[in-house]
Amino acid sequence: MTQFILNNTEIKINLSPGITMLDFVRYHQHLTGTKIGCREGDCGACSVLVGTLIGDTVRYHSVTSCLMPIGNAHGKHIVTIEGINLEKLNLVQESFVNHGATQCGFCTPGFIVSLTGFCLDEAPPSYESAIDSLNGNICRCTGYKSIEKAAMSVNEKLQERNLADPIHYAVKNNIVPDYFLTIPDRIKKIEKNENVVSHNKKVAGGTDLYVQQHDTIVNETIDFLLDQHYLKGIHQQGDYCEMGGSTTVSEMAISPIFLNSFKNLKKYIKLISSTPIRNMATVAGNFTNASPIGDLTIIFLSLDAQLFLGDESGKREIPLRQFYKGYKQIDKNSNEIIEKIKFHLPVNSVLFNFEKVSKRTHLDIASVNSAITLQMDAGTIIAAGLSAGGVGPIPMYLSKSSAFLCNKIVSESLVNELIMIAQDEVSPISDARGTEIYKRMLLSQIIKAHFIELFPQLDSKKILNIL
Ligand SMILES: Cc1cc2nc3c(=O)[nH]c(=O)nc-3n(C[C@H](O)[C@H](O)[C@H](O)COP(=O)(O)OP(=O)(O)OC[C@H]3O[C@@H](n4cnc5c(N)ncnc54)[C@H](O)[C@@H]3O)c2cc1C
Ligand code: FES
Ligand code: FES
Repeated sequence: MTQFILNNTEIKINLSPGITMLDFVRYHQHLTGTKIGCREGDCGACSVLVGTLIGDTVRYHSVTSCLMPIGNAHGKHIVTIEGINLEKLNLVQESFVNHGATQCGFCTPGFIVSLTGFCLDEAPPSYESAIDSLNGNICRCTGYKSIEKAAMSVNEKLQERNLADPIHYAVKNNIVPDYFLTIPDRIKKIEKNENVVSHNKKVAGGTDLYVQQHDTIVNETIDFLLDQHYLKGIHQQGDYCEMGGSTTVSEMAISPIFLNSFKNLKKYIKLISSTPIRNMATVAGNFTNASPIGDLTIIFLSLDAQLFLGDESGKREIPLRQFYKGYKQIDKNSNEIIEKIKFHLPVNSVLFNFEKVSKRTHLDIASVNSAITLQMDAGTIIAAGLSAGGVGPIPMYLSKSSAFLCNKIVSESLVNELIMIAQDEVSPISDARGTEIYKRMLLSQIIKAHFIELFPQLDSKKILNIL
């Protein structure tokens, strides 16, 4: 039995929990304001808000409903465009009208839902975060300028908001209907789904599975991992971090532990998918789908993360660096769950950098990506972890290159030597994301970028001139 609140209505259903929220709202509830575009998480036409009870308040974030199984909605508040509508236009809708931000209108419900999600966010509102909230929505008509102006005017209005209580503010200021105030008490009445994990198909955020296996997965018996309590949480112990396998990219992005330890966290996160995908995509899902260009995989290979796996027969630990055995082959049986990930935080004398090159800077998968972790003692590297994606059949930890860096003093010529060793370790192939030669060139450039970023005292012109 799946139970949640859809707009202002209690839903209790025995449907297959694998069907998508998009199909449920359109075909079972006849709420056709939520549009079907790509069904692959790319266009945002199907955006809805998901409200999760945290303490006594509900926090809302946007997701693409085409990739969200209704099983992941249990105990939550789902808001479609119909659930936002007031008797007159709400603040966001009015702003779209005033700035001519809608033409054919197909994308508009998705944009309105995403920008309303921005209005409900507890973080201090800014123009940058207003635009970020729309980075998963595509419009084919407007050219975006009018949408940006609408977002700017919504953000200006929000500057007067009392940060402590975004929902009350939104109700009082014609952003959402007043039934939103009743949601926390109504969610509390929904019994938690015990959802005992068994031998079924395992789905976390669904952002990989619902793209790859869309037609078959809806009828499978599923264990939903996204909200399993034991797979959540980010904790620091000394210089180490432990986080649950179902930690989402968005949870990493706002974690004080991550923010304190990764100087350029915001920049890295922006390179990974879009806001609604980051709200669902988990770190264990990224490791397990075994994509040779998985961004989180590349980051955590460099950080030498340790995986803690468990199933009914017991628990074991394995370094992420030993997890990949061949193209899409991993050291994990189908029942094992990645429960926890542990890694050394890049703090004190440990430096970290992540770089990614894609056909588009944002909202694209990598052609080549790479991360580097360097433990320094004065100007000498005493431990190193260099990883790279898109340059072999698996996400690669470059062990020879990393070993080469140990006990070396950082210099421009060291970068030159490192590039030659790294090129020997990789075996890229030509595919849709670039030719072998192009990917080799990208790897060299990215290695240079690591050193220019981490060691501003080096002569960047000299590094860039390395062939
Ligand atoms: C539009 C779009 C853009 C994207 N952009 C990027 C990008 O920029 N960079 C990038 O790296 N990826 C990207 N992805 C891919 C995807 O979002 C990520 O790989 C994501 O981290 C997958 O996590 P998930 O929780 O959604 O996985 P799911 O789809 O739920 O699961 C993926 C696999 O992991 C398994 N699994 C999940 N959790 C566990 C666990 N705890 N233990 C064991 N097995 C588990 C599942 O059984 C399944 O086999 C994108 C996807 C989309 C749709
Ligand atoms: S239909 Fe395009 S993101 Fe869902
Ligand atoms: S108004 Fe037509 S796609 Fe955006």
